[in-house]
Amino acid sequence: MTKRILSGVQPSGKLHLGNYFGAVKQHIELQHEAECFYFIANYHALTTIQDARLLAENTRDVALDYLALGLDPDKATFYRQSDVPEVAELTWVLSTVTNMGLLERAVSYKEKIEKGIEASVGLFTYPVLMAADILIVRSHFVPVGKDQVQHLEMTADIAGKFNRAYGVVFPEPQPLIPKAEIQAKVPGIDGQKMSKSYGNTIDIFAEGKPLEKTVMSIKTDSTPMGQPLDPDNCNVFALYSLFAAEDEKNALAADYRAGKIGYGHAKKMLKAKIDAHFGPFRDKRRELAQDPVTLEGILQAGAKKARAEAEMTMDLVRKATGLK
Ligand code: ADP
Ligand code: TRP
Repeated sequence: MTKRILSGVQPSGKLHLGNYFGAVKQHIELQHEAECFYFIANYHALTTIQDARLLAENTRDVALDYLALGLDPDKATFYRQSDVPEVAELTWVLSTVTNMGLLERAVSYKEKIEKGIEASVGLFTYPVLMAADILIVRSHFVPVGKDQVQHLEMTADIAGKFNRAYGVVFPEPQPLIPKAEIQAKVPGIDGQKMSKSYGNTIDIFAEGKPLEKTVMSIKTDSTPMGQPLDPDNCNVFALYSLFAAEDEKNALAADYRAGKIGYGHAKKMLKAKIDAHFGPFRDKRRELAQDPVTLEGILQAGAKKARAEAEMTMDLVRKATGLK
């Protein structure tokens, strides 16, 4: 049986290098290895965005970003979550086998409340909706960052409870966690983990002057020119390493240690790497952005494929539970 992979991305702003190396890149690579379902989690985003235009724009941006970066809609099934409303139906059914205690232990819920996000019922039951996303296509693997692993454990728990109550309908999905070195976090321009919430991002599709300004503002120490620099404690070097081949990395590290290069020059090298890596994707994105009809067509075609799967699952669920 072909293994199935599913992952979702919230449309919560522009994608940055952390998202790219921590998630998007793997998603795109996996489309060649398994049957993949990727979707834009706009139902989830309603827990934090209450601005119709912003939500629609963010959703479109994520769709353009993924397609420009190489997601092939003929290989992977790519859709907007809300175009598969069976997900909402399954969420209800799953909520009836979900323990309050399970949800009360959710770390990400607690963190969001601490950040000041309103404690809505939707925010509390967010993990049940996520379980429905995964189980509606009966996915086996879910590529996610470390922060989502608890949600995956909750999904396995919910699937297990359903299966024990009604007979086996769902596989218990496993997380697929990116390589340790990437999990070690892509640093932002201030050296903390790159994250939208810290305002320290380098956006994937930034270019020209704004990109140059961001790269030039990466925080470094104040070692004067001509003195040795430490590549192991440098945000510029860490970011450069994500793009560079082994020999390029070693060459830059040697120049750092020999005091042959200053931070300004290293930043220019980083910007050149970013431009070379994302240049072709930028052109593709511009092209796609000019053709909203094609974009909508791609998302609709993806939704159609996902809905066919979702309908099959719901048929099993309705029969198993006695709804039908
Ligand atoms: P943000 O922190 O900007 O809000 P998200 O939490 O929406 O980003 O991230 C979506 C996914 O992107 C995460 O689950 C994680 O896999 C990946 N990711 C985000 N930031 C980083 C980072 N700095 N380093 C590595 N991976 C990251
Ligand atoms: N909660 C995930 C995040 O914030 C997004 C998401 C929603 C997801 N549904 C999913 C990820 C299903 C994997 C599988 O990043």
